Amino acid sequence: MKISVCGKGGSGKSVITTLLAKGLQDRGYEVVVIDSDESNSGLHRMLGFEDSPVPLLDLVGGKKEVKNVLPKTPLPLAEQETSVISRSQISLSDIPRKHVISNNGISLVSVGKILQALEGCACPMGVLGREFLKKLQLTDNQLAVVDMEAGVEHFGRGVESGIDTVVVVVDPSFESIQLAGKINAMASEIGIKSIFAVLNKVPSDEITVKLKEELSKQNVAVAGTIPHDSGILEAGLEGRPLQSSETLVETDLIIDVLLPRSVRLT
Ligand SMILES: Nc1ncnc2c1ncn2[C@@H]1O[C@H](COP(=O)(O)OP(=O)(O)O)[C@@H](O)[C@H]1O
Ligand SMILES: [Mg+2]
Repeated sequence: MKISVCGKGGSGKSVITTLLAKGLQDRGYEVVVIDSDESNSGLHRMLGFEDSPVPLLDLVGGKKEVKNVLPKTPLPLAEQETSVISRSQISLSDIPRKHVISNNGISLVSVGKILQALEGCACPMGVLGREFLKKLQLTDNQLAVVDMEAGVEHFGRGVESGIDTVVVVVDPSFESIQLAGKINAMASEIGIKSIFAVLNKVPSDEITVKLKEELSKQNVAVAGTIPHDSGILEAGLEGRPLQSSETLVETDLIIDVLLPRSVRLT
């Protein structure tokens, strides 16, 4: 099962990705977290890793090469390490070691980041992310959680075509609600049936009620609520790993809604 976490910039996509990964790890899953938001750089820290893995983009020689490398299949054995991305199926163990950082059941893979000002358009990364997500083969106890880039552009590039469940992070703002409606429509259009909002940074029950009202007008189902939490805020401010303990109960309720019976571990 592959879950993508999308929403407005700053709504809490990386935080929710981390909380879900930790909650799923607690349930015994091996979680593959995929950093597909090229503009952020804090996800690895939230997850408790000191560094980011080398982006997959480097496997294909950087942005300019992505389009040339992807269609080629198959290559001579000696070149296979660098061309894992051109295979028809990729499992976690196929990915060369420097591109995966793992600890205790959580692995982090990064698609790629814009590091140079003149690297320009993000499209090749969309192609790479799309191909990788489609080809990634998971075992029964593995789940993937994808930290998507902000906005809806990734839908246009087909990055979601390998995704089973879309989570839209909604913070208490008009833009966030509007974007949730849009994402809901775009995800259903490409055939995704499991689409849920997760309310985040909610300061009170009254605001939860208001957000749910607004989202129901847009036909968006809500999986649950993560309150505004000073522990999360402070960890973010200091660049520390997220301690999921404060929101353990809420995260667990959300996971119950997201996981269909077919993928539950006994
Ligand atoms: N539930 C929450 N309570 C308090 N602060 C939060 C919460 N969720 C996110 N934040 C803070 O909001 C900011 C944006 O979160 P982040 O996950 O980086 O957003 P995104 O990945 O969507 O850009 C960070 O400073 C983070 O610490
Ligand atoms: Mg982020």
